[in-house]
Amino acid sequence: MTDTATTITPKPNGPLLVQGPVRILAPDGTELAVPPRKDGRPSEVVVLCRCGGSATKPFCDGTHKRIGFCDTPPPPSPAPTPGAAPPS
Ligand code: FES
Repeated sequence: MTDTATTITPKPNGPLLVQGPVRILAPDGTELAVPPRKDGRPSEVVVLCRCGGSATKPFCDGTHKRIGFCDTPPPPSPAPTPGAAPPS
């Protein structure tokens, strides 16, 4: 790996951080502008939504915090017991 390699890092319970050269394209092939940092400077990191709740997809808008996005899969449901009543 070189120093210019692009890396993608999932933030715990949050977005994907993309660091390095990358182009983000819309389904029609047009290039999407990466939102600037909060201070208005160009962003050096692309922050992509993985919770599905962002209003600015594919970019994260912070909604994951409000909706309590959790990247830990839920525990498996217990197998139904033969002869037991179905859950109500
Ligand atoms: S991960 Fe941040 S809004 Fe979806």
